[in-house]
Amino acid sequence: QDLNVAIVGATGAVGGKILEKLVERQFPAKSIKMLASKRSAGSKIIVEGKNYIVEETVPESFEGIDIAFFSAGGSISQTFAHEAVKRGAIVIDNTSAFRMDADIPLVVPEVNADELNRHNGIIANPNCSTIQMVTALKAIKEKFGINRIIVSTYQAVSGAGAEAIEELSEQSLQMDSRTDIKAVLLPSASAEKHYPIAFNVIPQIDLFDESGYTLEELKMMNETKKIFADEKIAVAATCVRLPVVTGHSESVYIELNREDVSVEDIRSAIKTTPGVVIQDDPSSQLYPMPLYAEGKDEVFVGRIRKDPTQPTGFHMWIVSDNLLKGAALNSVQIAEELIK
Ligand code: A2P
Repeated sequence: QDLNVAIVGATGAVGGKILEKLVERQFPAKSIKMLASKRSAGSKIIVEGKNYIVEETVPESFEGIDIAFFSAGGSISQTFAHEAVKRGAIVIDNTSAFRMDADIPLVVPEVNADELNRHNGIIANPNCSTIQMVTALKAIKEKFGINRIIVSTYQAVSGAGAEAIEELSEQSLQMDSRTDIKAVLLPSASAEKHYPIAFNVIPQIDLFDESGYTLEELKMMNETKKIFADEKIAVAATCVRLPVVTGHSESVYIELNREDVSVEDIRSAIKTTPGVVIQDDPSSQLYPMPLYAEGKDEVFVGRIRKDPTQPTGFHMWIVSDNLLKGAALNSVQIAEELIK
């Protein structure tokens, strides 16, 4: 079952990782077509000694393609995903374009792989911060029930794309002028104002909604309900950008359905999910950190504590590589699940 695969956004932060994961995991691909904008047509990407030439994305690019990974922004998915499906491809979309559409599955294979049975050609890959949180919480939810989640994120710049990594890198050299550093991209290309990310923390990711939440926060709140298939679970998020290159961290507070659960019970539950690793030993200063999660496939969980006043409440710290489990790896896992 050798497949023809395309990657739209192949020159981007996530697109490059999708290619790496396909090669590393020996995905049964007969060909991999690298697609981006006209600007990068003709440029070369080398993975494990093999050359891939980038082509411009046009509707005809998808002739003969079996699986198309999209990671070039929501508007590109809006323009080309249906063109790909029309030509017989299955689209795995890493943007927010279709995530909340009722007839499109939103999938984290460890949590809701069953949803893949009802796809109509497009499958959505959730938001990076949502993926690592639901993967870590899935077994706890199944075993003990979760009523409420309050999450604050500490997100890396690579989540905003390759240009945001560049922005952090340039600004980082300007230690002496840090209040008047020129900012052009973050917090969001389409925002009215831009602030430096180096030497700073920005409590805005994506644009604001009239509710006072940002779109990134609403993604976490809505997508969590959809992935858990639980409209009643209460979720509130605060999403924050930090001067970290790659690796999102999250402080997560949960309230369970019952009072008789111990930290040990929580740990044993978490350990049952493949790909989730506990790093939690205060006596040896062991806890997850993004610098060490970068390049790793796993979701790391630490700082697991009972709330001092709420008997059903627990706190924890969840870290993962936002470009891997948060994006490229999850997309490739969806494709692997599909061909099983
Ligand atoms: P290009 O490099 O040609 O601009 P990131 O998420 O790192 O910002 O990357 C965005 C990706 O989306 C890049 O691969 C970029 O390609 C791609 N992209 C941007 N605009 C288009 C377009 N009009 N058609 C296809 N791909 C696009």
